[in-house]
Amino acid sequence: MTDPLAHHDAALRTPDTVARYGFSVPFELVVHSTRDAFAPDNDCLTRVMTAPSGKPARALVYLDEGVVRSIPDLPRRIHAWFAANEARGVQLAAVPDIVSGGEVAKGDLAILDRVGRAAFDHKICRHSYVVIVGGGAVLDAVGCAASLVHRGLRQIRLPTTVLGQCDAGLGVKNGLNRFGAKNFFGTFTPPAAIINDARFLESLDERSWRAGISEAVKVAIIKDAPFLDELIQSAPALAARDMPAMERLIARCATLHLEHITQGGDPFEHGSSRPLDFGHWSAHRLEVITNHKLMHGEAVAIGVAIDSLYAVEIGRLTRDEVDGILGCLHTCGFRLWHEALDLKDVSGRRSVLTGLEQFREHLGGELTLAMPDGLGRRRDITSFDEAAFERALAALRRWRRRASTEHPQSSRQS
Ligand SMILES: NC(=O)c1ccc[n+]([C@@H]2O[C@H](COP(=O)([O-])OP(=O)(O)OC[C@H]3O[C@@H](n4cnc5c(N)ncnc54)[C@H](O)[C@@H]3O)[C@@H](O)[C@H]2O)c1
Ligand SMILES: [Zn+2]
Repeated sequence: MTDPLAHHDAALRTPDTVARYGFSVPFELVVHSTRDAFAPDNDCLTRVMTAPSGKPARALVYLDEGVVRSIPDLPRRIHAWFAANEARGVQLAAVPDIVSGGEVAKGDLAILDRVGRAAFDHKICRHSYVVIVGGGAVLDAVGCAASLVHRGLRQIRLPTTVLGQCDAGLGVKNGLNRFGAKNFFGTFTPPAAIINDARFLESLDERSWRAGISEAVKVAIIKDAPFLDELIQSAPALAARDMPAMERLIARCATLHLEHITQGGDPFEHGSSRPLDFGHWSAHRLEVITNHKLMHGEAVAIGVAIDSLYAVEIGRLTRDEVDGILGCLHTCGFRLWHEALDLKDVSGRRSVLTGLEQFREHLGGELTLAMPDGLGRRRDITSFDEAAFERALAALRRWRRRASTEHPQSSRQS
């Protein structure tokens, strides 16, 4: 029997509807390269700080403690620079704040309140600037805080390490570590400008000078074979702190990162592929399980070595090609092994392998790892063979033993 009301109900039901309103927002990454940004007559900052008409462009300034330790008169020079440039419409809103440098900067959420409080007390508006001078960790931590205040203050980054100038400072990401996971919190917030000031590189200690080289090797392996050759050739000069060689490395590495972010089609990483994270699944995990005794760049050198040897196992690179990569990293002074690689969890599995799960979760459930496909090319993998990984680790252990007897390094990371 038919329901006499059925026709009536169907007529009353509002049909489901979907409406789509597309929009896109153009972004631009503006990168200045200079020397001595806080010399009174240097106009890089005034060129990037613009304010609503008739009002000065105000700035809160955050300084990495490690930078200030090496350059004690930096706060005074920043005061002097703002004083000298006030007529050009810039104004220091408060005394520059000095924050702990290194991974401790990203270690808790205190930075959120610290930046928020200063913005509140000094009436910082969305047309004001947060100028961040520091290594990748301070850029990530203060950048994350600044991106939350009023839903995003304008950021100007002055990266002070090699890694900051060739990678961390250039992108659209920031982050804070939490629950034993790197960058668990964080936002995608393109900076208003980036100012790479070569003068900061002079005061780097040996480890921070070296750490960023691994990011250049990483990006060269998957994107630029001639650049990798150049890095192999210049490894002795880089190890000897040759500034022109380092400036060439930074320039090319920065270009490759910037091209990827701006032309790669996925600046905010909505997809699963993260080519710039080649070698990073184990690196992030090693940083955490060594309690950050390994710096990011040092862990990346090990991660790149492991994944390059894994690439041999799956037929993507030859042994000779990987010998070149490992030799380059070794000559630059990286230690390509860490005892933490042998740590096991309660189930007897290598702790470092948890990095794979964390990577998978971060990407949204599907594992996608960047892998070279011959030097200078990339083809992602979506499954991981733990037996091949074990063979790669064994090969790295053997390589390391041979290299340290045949070619002892003049300097070592601790
Ligand atoms: N947001 C991104 O896209 C991105 C990309 C890559 C790496 N990162 C992050 O960057 C961080 C690593 O950055 P890093 O390698 O720059 O190290 P870092 O920020 O940990 O700095 C290393 C040490 O150098 C000191 N320092 C910085 N500049 C100095 C200078 N000019 N003179 C003397 N000392 C100085 C710091 O105080 C610190 O003690 C990691 O947290 C990593 O996750 C972020
Ligand atoms: Zn990195």
